[in-house]
Amino acid sequence: MSSVRVVQRMGVFDSGVGGITVLQALRRKFPSIEFVYLGDTANVPYGTKSPSQIENLSRLCAQRLRDEKIDVLVVACNTASSWALPAIRQEVGPLVDVIGMVEPGVASVLDRCLTNTGPILVLATRATVRSGAYRRAFETALPQDSGGPGTRDVFEQACPLLVPMIEEGWLDHKILLQTIDEYVSTHRQQGREGIALLGCTHYPWIRTQIESRLPGWTVVDSAESVAQYLASRVAASGAKLSDQASSPEVKWIFTDPEAVPEFARKILRSV
Ligand code: DGL
Repeated sequence: MSSVRVVQRMGVFDSGVGGITVLQALRRKFPSIEFVYLGDTANVPYGTKSPSQIENLSRLCAQRLRDEKIDVLVVACNTASSWALPAIRQEVGPLVDVIGMVEPGVASVLDRCLTNTGPILVLATRATVRSGAYRRAFETALPQDSGGPGTRDVFEQACPLLVPMIEEGWLDHKILLQTIDEYVSTHRQQGREGIALLGCTHYPWIRTQIESRLPGWTVVDSAESVAQYLASRVAASGAKLSDQASSPEVKWIFTDPEAVPEFARKILRSV
């Protein structure tokens, strides 16, 4: 007789503080689950690194989380999801599930495609754009979309300067707005208001700033979609969610605790 697996502990991994935006959505969706958050603040940003560096760093983080006896791992980093998901799965072994950001991200855009027929713009790190992970996922998904292939343009925009500014805590700095403008102005000037996917988990921290440079666009943060996607996959796997204590404390691990920006430190206490 096979025993039902119980999900009691989930790991959430990002290069820095970006994954906290996903952790918040997961906590709302799974209030009885224990969470361990690992931010690789000693090595952020990943988005400017080579594929082998991203894979090696992701492997080390996966090993660290495996030692925390997690049942599920959410790779809350688009860059690591795009380049290192197979390596991470290999390191953590047979968990109930290991998910990344790309599929839920695409799903959250497709949900908006019925009401917005404009172009799709994926804002992401340089490494995520180079991986082609979103381009491939949209190519697969769009034929089922009501717009059909060829009727909807998909653009990817690398924004390599944004993560270092966010990790530096420059959320209200005028340079941040000017930098966002450099990245999005060409897309804005095309004249059609579309859907902009925040394809990096750091970007929800500057969502209002991005929205202000893309007036009329639908800006999509995929965190809720990740939580929903995970819930359906856990249910489909036949595993049970633990219903022990309500809202257990998050265990925080930062590879360089000194490097956690002040704005994130304030949030850690309330997640
Ligand atoms: N927050 C991560 C992402 O979603 C990584 C950003 C970085 O380290 O460059 O891509």
